[in-house]
Amino acid sequence: MRETISFVVNGEHYSKNIDVRLSLLELLREEGLTSVKHGCGVGECGACTVLIDNTPIDSCMYLAVWVDGKTIRTVEGEIKDGKISQVQQSYIDAGAVQCGYCTPGFIMTSTAFVEKHKGQNVDRDEIRKEHAGNLCRCTGYETIICAVESCLKD
Ligand code: FES
Ligand code: FES
Repeated sequence: MRETISFVVNGEHYSKNIDVRLSLLELLREEGLTSVKHGCGVGECGACTVLIDNTPIDSCMYLAVWVDGKTIRTVEGEIKDGKISQVQQSYIDAGAVQCGYCTPGFIMTSTAFVEKHKGQNVDRDEIRKEHAGNLCRCTGYETIICAVESCLKD
């Protein structure tokens, strides 16, 4: 069975006739948005995290037909006029990127968190809790927490 859906990704309007069984992860990667990574495929690792109406969601567990009428953000859209976002720069400055496979998903979770808590005094446990759905096997997490912390202050 197929359905036609309309949605926005990184400011660009899409209208697609898709198989209703397609996941959002598959749809986005088919559209060339390869920052969205396929990790576990079962909602455990967060490598596939995107923002749907500014909420972090595992796109592997989300049917593409559900984005009808919604707005999606991926890492590709965080680069504006050739300039990376504050969150991306903070990850680099903090040394929070190693192999990089988890990084796009983390960046989207952090972006939503920073937009919600900018200027607030949030403790590190709260940052950890909000990123619990994203796994990283390289960094040990501390540098990621530092990156997010510095974004909240700047
Ligand atoms: S690939 Fe989606 S949570 Fe792991
Ligand atoms: S940087 Fe390698 S999994 Fe996170």
